[in-house]
Amino acid sequence: MAVCLAKHGYEVTGIDPNTALIQKLSRGEAPFYEPNLGEYVKSATETGKLRATPNYESNSKADLTYIAVGTPSREDGSIDLGYVKEAAGMIGRSLRNASQHQLVVVKSTVLPGTARSLVKPTIEKESGKIGGKDFSVCSNPEFLREGRAIHDTELPDRIIIGSDQPSATERLETIYRAFHGGNLPTVIKTSFENAELIKYANNAFLATKVSFINSIAGIAERVPNADVKSIAQGIGLDDRIGPKFLNAGLGWGGSCFPKDLAALLHFSQTAGSDPELIRAVIDTNRRQAEKATEFAKQALGSFEGKRIAILGLSFKPETDDLRDAVSIPIINSLLKNGADVRAWDPRAMTEARRIFGDHIKYSADALDCLNQTDCCILVTEWPEFKNIRPETFAGKMRQPIVIDGRRVYDPVEFRKAGIRLQAIGLGPEP
Ligand code: UGA
Repeated sequence: MAVCLAKHGYEVTGIDPNTALIQKLSRGEAPFYEPNLGEYVKSATETGKLRATPNYESNSKADLTYIAVGTPSREDGSIDLGYVKEAAGMIGRSLRNASQHQLVVVKSTVLPGTARSLVKPTIEKESGKIGGKDFSVCSNPEFLREGRAIHDTELPDRIIIGSDQPSATERLETIYRAFHGGNLPTVIKTSFENAELIKYANNAFLATKVSFINSIAGIAERVPNADVKSIAQGIGLDDRIGPKFLNAGLGWGGSCFPKDLAALLHFSQTAGSDPELIRAVIDTNRRQAEKATEFAKQALGSFEGKRIAILGLSFKPETDDLRDAVSIPIINSLLKNGADVRAWDPRAMTEARRIFGDHIKYSADALDCLNQTDCCILVTEWPEFKNIRPETFAGKMRQPIVIDGRRVYDPVEFRKAGIRLQAIGLGPEP
């Protein structure tokens, strides 16, 4: 959001207490991998439109402030709103002597009631000003995907604005009208609470779609000649279902779905409603990652002393993010059972070293990873893995056993080439 606003000519200041992050941004470097982000950060800092500082007082001059801090999960799945409260407090303090009316926009994913009952009163308390009169608050949830962050920011499907004050909603809509030019998507203007719940419902629905197709995959795996890919295509053509988020695989991970579904479940239960479906979606996903080791075990018998190649570590392609990636429980389970694990990811090797230390071996590339292994598990569908030919697997590996956790390979071609291929949602060979 910051670099896209800067690109559109706005003067943007990023405020964060993390000095390493500030220094990186100030040098014009992106703090993590995201397609095109590097160029955007470089040009935004070169033109002087984007600057970064740990000094929250510089917020006092802003017309518009986004709260975009993390909302991590606690041990019991509940959401930790500590950073949101801290940010609201800093905004409040920065506004004590401000003369202009600031619009504060909550972008962080927060539970219903947060904007009204936490953000607004905290700013009021710290600033000594009156919400609605001296400053206003909007809830404006974020729907961008990692790996497509810039695209989704420039071309969102819709914009949701929640507020208790129509003039604040109008003001934010006007900003987005200018930002998107002729391409302003549908804007839904609603209450704080609806905006906050739309965000959770959106992620919960997408995760449900994936867990649903993974359940169907489990059925297809028991039926000779069945293939979940064909089933997904068949149902996806029904307009009411749609083709997206029907890729069966080892399950969903990342910084959003796991924490948001856990938070929604926890919140619902404390609010007196038990959403059985959400619980089933989470449980289905937890079991899905276990399929990688189950398939590998069926093929290998025992893991003791076996060399296993892991292709892909990030929670999905085009990111170096390993937060709640399914690769983590899979690798931990393999290690626990005595396997010798080696891994390769085009972007996530630095982060992987931080997580797995010297418990696994880090390969130089995908082919090096396969070398003399007994089994390969494809965990993340990076495009470069798609091009690895079955003959290459057969030539490099000690035993040509491939577990296709993301349905990248053609089973007919692979099996013809002598690969023992096991894939999510693929029925047994008749
Ligand atoms: C998700 C939502 O898609 C965004 O709209 C939302 O803004 C974001 O969370 C958030 O709350 O911040 P993201 O976590 O970046 O975005 O990734 P997704 O593309 O949604 O994928 C999530 C997980 O689902 C990945 O592990 C992916 O491999 C898995 N997935 C996705 C499948 O297994 N099958 C599919 O068909 C689609």
